[in-house]
Amino acid sequence: MDVPATFTHVYGQMTAGSYCYIGPQGIVHGTVLTVLNAGRRYLGLQDLAGKVFVTSGLGGMSGAQAKAAVIVGCIGVIAEVDGAALMKRHRQGWLMEVTDSLDHCIERLREARKTKEVLSLGYHGNVVDLWERLVHELDTTGELLVDLGSDQTSCHSPFNGGYYPVQLSFAEARSLMASDPTAFKGLVQESLRRHVSAINRLAREHFFFWDYGNAFLLEAQRAGADVGKPGANRTEFRYPSYVQHIMGDIFSQGFGPFRWVCTSGDPQDLVVTDRLAMSVLEEIVAGGVTPAVKLQYEDNIRWIREAAKHQLVVGSQARILYSDQKGRVAIAMAFNQAIARGELKAPVVLSRDHHDVSGTDSPFRETSNIYDGSAFCADMAVQNFVGDAFRGATWVALHNGGGVGWLLTVKTRHRSRGSSRAHAGLPGHLTSAPLISSMVPPQRQMHPELDPADAGGSATVPAPEGEVINGGFGLVLDGTEDAERKARRVLSWDVANGVARRCWSGSPMAYEVICQTMREDSSVAVTLPHTVADECVLQALQQ
Ligand SMILES: NC(=O)c1ccc[n+]([C@@H]2O[C@H](COP(=O)([O-])OP(=O)(O)OC[C@H]3O[C@@H](n4cnc5c(N)ncnc54)[C@H](O)[C@@H]3O)[C@@H](O)[C@H]2O)c1
Repeated sequence: MDVPATFTHVYGQMTAGSYCYIGPQGIVHGTVLTVLNAGRRYLGLQDLAGKVFVTSGLGGMSGAQAKAAVIVGCIGVIAEVDGAALMKRHRQGWLMEVTDSLDHCIERLREARKTKEVLSLGYHGNVVDLWERLVHELDTTGELLVDLGSDQTSCHSPFNGGYYPVQLSFAEARSLMASDPTAFKGLVQESLRRHVSAINRLAREHFFFWDYGNAFLLEAQRAGADVGKPGANRTEFRYPSYVQHIMGDIFSQGFGPFRWVCTSGDPQDLVVTDRLAMSVLEEIVAGGVTPAVKLQYEDNIRWIREAAKHQLVVGSQARILYSDQKGRVAIAMAFNQAIARGELKAPVVLSRDHHDVSGTDSPFRETSNIYDGSAFCADMAVQNFVGDAFRGATWVALHNGGGVGWLLTVKTRHRSRGSSRAHAGLPGHLTSAPLISSMVPPQRQMHPELDPADAGGSATVPAPEGEVINGGFGLVLDGTEDAERKARRVLSWDVANGVARRCWSGSPMAYEVICQTMREDSSVAVTLPHTVADECVLQALQQ
């Protein structure tokens, strides 16, 4: 690597943050794992047949919930106020049935529970009506019709159409939002209080709810809903964030969303990479891993089989799966060798969703289970951004995200042999550095110095703003030894950095994992924390 070659910025999100948007596949995958792990954690079940998952939202990301329920094999009931969004998912085949009648919805739900039918049912209406009806059923018949629940309305932006209040129809809401934003906000907040009150009633029974990374609990709290956790501070809620409870242990083990794009654009290349990745994971399991790690690998082997069957590719021939450091490096090596042998027609780009063990600092989501105060720092994202760049990533990205913010990308230039071959094979969207000015948010208008064009190509990197910071990378595998060396170094750093941080913040699982990683990989050296009992500290201070 020599000098930073290009700066560019676009409107940043999680998945597209490092020029690697792979369509809805990532969120389907994440939702499958979340629901599977929620079933294990809350219901003690491996098989979710006949169990009911109720949620809302069939939009861009939330639409994945319908498909995930089917892949997992449970009954998914998803409320959506927008008929167009609902029908899109129905036409696409992700929703098996739709209804706008609550009576019919409850009838179908009862039937499917009895016969353990796999079902994704879209309810065209407000999710608060659905939750209140489930409470009514419980109170009048004693029957709890739901086992697991969440929410994926766009609560990160609740007053501009992200959350529709139950008191109004969809059309009325859209009109009031524009004509009287203050009245609209009041209705949204009242609706959120009703929403939480229904969930609280159900949660007194054997029902489990989690926050799905959409700021639902945060906004409900701001609205005065009863979401507080007795005896805890204001940043802790009575319901867990899915990261905190369901995915937290996965991140501490170093598992996270690793992904690749076959730059040939040939579906056959994707079939080859799927086969290679699957056999790599199977070999690692056969070589002996802990029961917890085995479970993760097995879920992902199942995912690769199912993903191919459910035709989740949209656009780029890409795949995502969860893996730890060992698996990611082994998969990268297998791909690079297959490219060298000519089994794959063109280079493969490695990347990851930023919703990962290391890439994101987000105090109400990815880092919500880090209780030492560093949840509010940007350590992991910045360290990954810088560390990945120095270890040979083809490009790196630092941006805020999770629905808001801007992104600044630094593309690095390589002198190594073979890199020109790699770049020659890349599709336009992976090599160009577009300045998408229409998507640049208002901060830039207030801070024109943030525009790299104005900076005259200077190497000043402005710091991102916002509550959530993401760091990501792209790495081209072209079959050369140089690519192999870089992949080892980047992937090891990229995963170990986050595990080490979780270890320092007190996670016993992360401590075990980082010790194991150091035993297996002599290039990883992490300073280990020493746990000290509070009494010892107090004693020392008194002396
Ligand atoms: N868990 C994750 O990993 C993850 C990933 C991406 C996005 N998110 C978050 O999830 C949320 C949803 O993302 P999206 O891309 O699907 O947004 P979206 O706006 O496309 O979809 C949300 C849908 O919710 C519907 N809705 C709003 N209020 C409703 C109500 N009261 N009842 C029924 N339906 C209602 C809207 O009509 C809309 O179609 C966002 O806040 C986003 O930041 C989470």
